[in-house]
Amino acid sequence: MQTKVLVAYASKYGSAQEVAEEIAATLRENDLVVDLKPVREVRTLEEYAVAVLGAPLYMLHWHKEARGFLSRHHEVLMKLQVAVFALGPLSNREEEWKEARAQFDKELAKFPWLTPIAIEIFGGKFDPKKLHLPDKIIVSLPASPLHEIPASDVRNWTAIRAWASKLATQLQPALPQ
Ligand SMILES: Cc1cc2nc3c(=O)[nH]c(=O)nc-3n(C[C@H](O)[C@H](O)[C@H](O)COP(=O)(O)O)c2cc1C
Repeated sequence: MQTKVLVAYASKYGSAQEVAEEIAATLRENDLVVDLKPVREVRTLEEYAVAVLGAPLYMLHWHKEARGFLSRHHEVLMKLQVAVFALGPLSNREEEWKEARAQFDKELAKFPWLTPIAIEIFGGKFDPKKLHLPDKIIVSLPASPLHEIPASDVRNWTAIRAWASKLATQLQPALPQ
């Protein structure tokens, strides 16, 4: 039986989607059969042996569609190999990466049944000019950590591809049913 992989993502402004696309492409280069879908379009996980779930952190939380996906598919996900990633840090400051990892760990702790085979944080992308409401208002508040910070894109494509390649080597072949 073939190991079929679902790469599911949530994304507000497209940067997590692009990371998910790169991960899906890298897994395919490693001879895996991969479907790439936004989480809200995933109806069933029946055909998959592996799920890779990725989404950005917003206001200290993992995107709510990613959390909803875990809750909705809890029973099936317990039988799959699951890998998760979050986007967040907008600079290369070590402190910011530690905070993002702590936020992500806290979010994942809400799903104690989940035992991912890989957990990763990737740098994010931010463009204050492209924000919609209410993010525009949030960022305009002087108390916001994102107040007046410049546009940035700290996604490290080499690290993203390396993570996906390593993941491909970690996957156990699906067992015949
Ligand atoms: C309003 C707002 C709040 C954010 N909150 C967090 C946060 O709490 N922690 C974090 O690490 N990154 C935070 N970020 C950074 C995003 O995770 C980053 O911009 C990500 O690349 C956005 O992904 P998307 O383009 O797929 O929506 C925030 C960004 C915005 C605009």
